[in-house]
Amino acid sequence: MAQKVLVIGSGGREHALAWALARSSRVERVYVAPGNAGTVWASSDGLAESRNVPVSVDDFPGLIALAKTENIALTIVGPEVPLAAGIADAFTEAGLPVFGPSKAAAQLEASKAFAKDFMKKHGIPTGDYRTFTSFEQADKYLSEVSGPVVLKASGLAAGKGVIVLDNLDKLRQALRRMMQDKVFGEAGDTVIIEERLSGPEVSVLAFSDGKTIVPMPPARDHKRAFDNDEGPNTGGMGCYTPVPDVSQAEIDEIKRTILQPTIDGMREQGTPYSGVLYAGLMRTTEGFKVIEFNCRFGDPETQVILPLLESDLFDIAKACAEERLNEIDIRWKKGACATVVLASPGYPDQYPKGLSISGLDKAALHKSVSVFHAGTAIDGNGLPITGGGRVLNVSAVGSDLPEALKRAYNAIEDIHFDGMHFRRDIGKNYA
Ligand code: AMP
Ligand code: GLY
Repeated sequence: MAQKVLVIGSGGREHALAWALARSSRVERVYVAPGNAGTVWASSDGLAESRNVPVSVDDFPGLIALAKTENIALTIVGPEVPLAAGIADAFTEAGLPVFGPSKAAAQLEASKAFAKDFMKKHGIPTGDYRTFTSFEQADKYLSEVSGPVVLKASGLAAGKGVIVLDNLDKLRQALRRMMQDKVFGEAGDTVIIEERLSGPEVSVLAFSDGKTIVPMPPARDHKRAFDNDEGPNTGGMGCYTPVPDVSQAEIDEIKRTILQPTIDGMREQGTPYSGVLYAGLMRTTEGFKVIEFNCRFGDPETQVILPLLESDLFDIAKACAEERLNEIDIRWKKGACATVVLASPGYPDQYPKGLSISGLDKAALHKSVSVFHAGTAIDGNGLPITGGGRVLNVSAVGSDLPEALKRAYNAIEDIHFDGMHFRRDIGKNYA
């Protein structure tokens, strides 16, 4: 029997989740709360309809009421903030099936101090670190420490809480802003000062039901705003999967040394981890080490991983929620997928909103291309306008990465909004 599902969130990741769920033969309707201009469509052959519902991601009673009224078979939570605030616990208490970790399990992302202590306790490879709750002690340590370090706010800081700087004075200023000026609020009350590692980075996301863990193909995000990795850090300007320089044998090793021990450790501690475990990794001369954990699908990683998923996302997510992931065979398409983020003028700093977007229909006609909306809205005339910093993610599948990239960049030529900027070197050099 076909069922209704709810996706919580409003970015490109949530559009990609709704897109994949609407292709499930088990799904008759997708609701996205609150969604964006791209997450609304009518049903057609083999595709379930998708509707937006104006309930915000932090309105747990409103979301629970929606799930009950609409008889939602499964809710998938996109962003980390509601997970860290306990949305999965609230749904579970209300008797509603949910895909995403509990508040206690989401600590792996919400508290870097928790994550680092957990990794140390369970022998999961990560950089050496110290945790501080006193500004004076942290500041003293910074001036004494030998070797390069990275400063991190322990709590959630919307991707801005990691400071990598060579200059000691600047690092101390950043510490002061974090701990004394409280630029990240309570998230900066505890800080981590961590050994600075170097090497290529890779994101490995995995489905888990708390016991079984199944990695997805590895992905690589481009975090800097401009070509050649110049400019400020962003939420991600483009991404590709798989990653040619990470072999299947290495994925197996990452599963054995990092992913499975994490899931086992969380279960042993009485806080089983179910949902997506996202491991941000660096390949160092001593092997792969964890840079960070996220408790959810990545954005824009999801926009390249899901187009390659051959199996049914609804079946996988439901099996995770019901602790029977071992019964599911997860298959992936051959080939590669790349996404390029089209950003607002000025992003990641100040940017205007409400710019009209043209060419979306034409771009979507390109072979193997999906245009996922991120920061978009609909104006009074029903037309798409910009509504955020990262506006659109143009994803394309190809038989290999160069073909996927070519298709994505060709489709972008049809899209326009004033001041639109994007990187032209996504996937170039495969690094
Ligand atoms: P995160 O928000 O934890 O993903 O960190 C953002 C970026 O900071 C990562 O993608 C890395 O490039 C960098 N970073 C974080 N931790 C370290 C570290 N220990 N050594 C070197 N770079 C790091
Ligand atoms: N792409 C990085 C993240 O989702 O955190």
